Amino acid sequence: MIFARKIASPSPAPAARLIGLGSYLPSQKVSNADLASRLDTTDDWIRTRIGIAERHVADPDTATSDLATEAGLRAMKSAQVEHVDAVILATATPDHHVPGTAPVVAHRLGLPQVPAFDLGAGCSGFVYATTVAAGLIHAKTAGTVLVIGAEKMSAVIDPADRSTAPIFGDGAGAVVLTAGHAGEPGALGPAAWGSDGEHADAIIIPGGGSRSPSRTTADLDDLYVHMKGNEVFRHAVRRITHVTRQAATAAGWAVQDIDRLIVHQANARISAAVANGLGIPNERVPANIARVGNTSAASIPLLLSHSAIDGQLKAGQRVVVTSFGAGFTWAATTLLWPVSLQALA
Ligand code: COA
Repeated sequence: MIFARKIASPSPAPAARLIGLGSYLPSQKVSNADLASRLDTTDDWIRTRIGIAERHVADPDTATSDLATEAGLRAMKSAQVEHVDAVILATATPDHHVPGTAPVVAHRLGLPQVPAFDLGAGCSGFVYATTVAAGLIHAKTAGTVLVIGAEKMSAVIDPADRSTAPIFGDGAGAVVLTAGHAGEPGALGPAAWGSDGEHADAIIIPGGGSRSPSRTTADLDDLYVHMKGNEVFRHAVRRITHVTRQAATAAGWAVQDIDRLIVHQANARISAAVANGLGIPNERVPANIARVGNTSAASIPLLLSHSAIDGQLKAGQRVVVTSFGAGFTWAATTLLWPVSLQALA
């Protein structure tokens, strides 16, 4: 008698899977006309050179933790979960240097004693944080992770500086990731990421840290963001283009396979140059910069949330999220869009 040998089929590789998505914008808006009334700039210049028409700005009593909590609540409701095993908050504008803002957010979300920490990687912070969350999930350190990107950029932007004030806005977005398998809807692919501290001074808040503690009024300007716009622009286009290719290749995709490219909303001309360099048609590159500006670490989850609600992200689509920011830092990952995900804004 011959027995057929049973060959175990290989189980699919583990992957982090997207199950919840939410975002929050403070209600107050600042239009280009509002800015032009107090700065040497025009609506036309801002629209043409950056692609922004308006941005949302939190009121003085609202801090980053407030924005983050709202987005976190929506993401958990979207995921239909009441508990997660860890909270990672990507932000460049924490409520305080000490303590971290994530434990405050976890507490307010009714998540007592879960590990919670801030992650600072500038505008790349959210993609960095999803990469760390995926690692925690792969290692079985956490089953489900809430990843939030939240910024109150208006707290660190000089309202009198026309080279930064038109660009940045406030907001928050969040996702819930859980354990899944490569290739299933919602699965994140491998990340590509990197940094180059040689350009640390290209986007910098010079004061307030250990290098230069600001304790006198003469240092006030050093508590604002200082930016070398042209240098940032050039590096952003080059790095985002390259890291997008790396993430696609790591997932086994050709660039032409990308159905939606979710680019950090820094400048509409940066996104256009990246899409052009990669040969991806503009209709596959959603954008919300016109209405929210550059929200730094909140940019990617806000754009995911708005694009999902607008119907631009559909089940099974091959998505790449890709970002660049202060540091310099850059990061990208692939994502198969989930089947039934209701984004809440
Ligand atoms: N309104 C009107 N004119 C302005 C202006 C403003 N807000 N800011 C600059 N200008 C003027 C400049 O003075 C300059 O005038 P000149 O030609 O007479 O000297 C001209 O516009 C061009 O300045 P430049 O700095 O070369 O503009 P730009 O096209 O590079 O645009 C940025 C400036 C900041 C919008 C652009 O460099 C940028 O978006 N960089 C990336 C920033 C970014 O994404 N940061 C976050 C990264 S995560």
